[in-house]
Amino acid sequence: MNRNKIGITETVLRDAHQSLLATRMRTDEMLPIVDTMDKIGYHSVEMWGGATFDACLRYLDEDPWERLRKLKAGFKNTPLQMLLRGQNLLGYKNYPDDVVTEFVYKSVENGIDIIRIFDALNDVRNLEVSIKATKKAGAHAQATVVYTTSPVHNIELFIKLAKELYNMGADSICIKDMSGILKPFDAYNLIKALKDEIKLPIQLHSHYTSGMASMTYLKAIEAGVDIIDTAISPLSLGTSQPPTETFVSILKDTPYDTGLDMKLLNEVAEHFKKVRDTHISGNNTSLVTGIDTNVLIYQVPGGMLSNLVAQLSQANALDKYEKVLEEIPRVREDLGYPPLVTPLSQMVGTQAVLNVITGERYKMIPNEIKDYVKGLYGRPPIPIKKEIKEKIIGNEDIIDVRPADLLKPQLQNIKKEIAEYIEQEEDILSYASFPQIALNFFKYRRAQKYKIDENILDKENKAYPV
Ligand code: CO
Repeated sequence: MNRNKIGITETVLRDAHQSLLATRMRTDEMLPIVDTMDKIGYHSVEMWGGATFDACLRYLDEDPWERLRKLKAGFKNTPLQMLLRGQNLLGYKNYPDDVVTEFVYKSVENGIDIIRIFDALNDVRNLEVSIKATKKAGAHAQATVVYTTSPVHNIELFIKLAKELYNMGADSICIKDMSGILKPFDAYNLIKALKDEIKLPIQLHSHYTSGMASMTYLKAIEAGVDIIDTAISPLSLGTSQPPTETFVSILKDTPYDTGLDMKLLNEVAEHFKKVRDTHISGNNTSLVTGIDTNVLIYQVPGGMLSNLVAQLSQANALDKYEKVLEEIPRVREDLGYPPLVTPLSQMVGTQAVLNVITGERYKMIPNEIKDYVKGLYGRPPIPIKKEIKEKIIGNEDIIDVRPADLLKPQLQNIKKEIAEYIEQEEDILSYASFPQIALNFFKYRRAQKYKIDENILDKENKAYPV
């Protein structure tokens, strides 16, 4: 890799529309621009992840594997990238090792070149199996340090984590700032220290939510970052990434020149402007492009805020919004400062809502929070205080093994369970990830096929009347 040239990962096909269009972009809205995008020279194009996989099956009646294959057929020169939640794959809980390994193999077999792997708790034990499988499948394993701030998170801790990931065989390291709270000067110090200590490419992923991400990227570039994540302008800013064209332009004719073609990028922008506008006028979503500084005070990522509003209005308690925002950091402290990323962001948010609307802290506790305290999601950044632990799980023990060690292999059982619906081996993995939603999709798919067969039959009947 040329030391100075900055690589660009374009996020429009994954994070950008997940952040701004509720993940509703369809494959047929992507395909017409793929040839142009493939000529641009991106380091990679991110196009797959938990929410896109889920939304394909749940809302779009699309097979996510089919999307991957179609995009791969068009992106002949550009590596395709996905985001994987480590042992949680694309879901919200731990899966057994046989499912994790097979999922990684099938992702690579269908066209993924780079897998960015993270664990919400930065528990490296939850990354081990997927990193190993990625490497064995011949793909690039990018291991992730989830960035957060707390009294226990500091540069030393992040460096220690990155070193562990390096030793585990990571091909590169990503700093994942999902909330957009990494400040420019902190980014400089963090990236500088990482580059001094670890001889791997470093990639930075941030969100524009608080208004800092472009400055953060620039300082990270000065500190030696190798690759940044950006989104084509019509789907940039707000809760999405900084704009691609702006960075290409900023870095042009400097030692960091990305070498990307602005004219081609403009064609890509024109295309996604139209896509964006059809989504907005269809009222499927409201575009959040402004700056939200609540995230700097409460550390609450943008997606979590809209969830909170929905939960509170359901409970007819929107007037408690401020109180819940204040409760979130307290719950987070109680739980050992987990980073607020999926699934922990939802879990902490729900507990805070319950604490406020019931009027008593931990009067109601969801099972997920109990499992978390038992250690079934992994190790919290610091141990949970005894009195909180007792309040939540009483005298029950905390496990000290890797959570997935407690899970039995599952693939063979699933195969039997859905045998009548399987049209491709990948269906087993869709079902393992989202059983009910996948099953609904399989039924829909079969109905569609049946309808088509009927049509063919009709035509045949007409052509050959008895
Ligand atoms: Co993101």
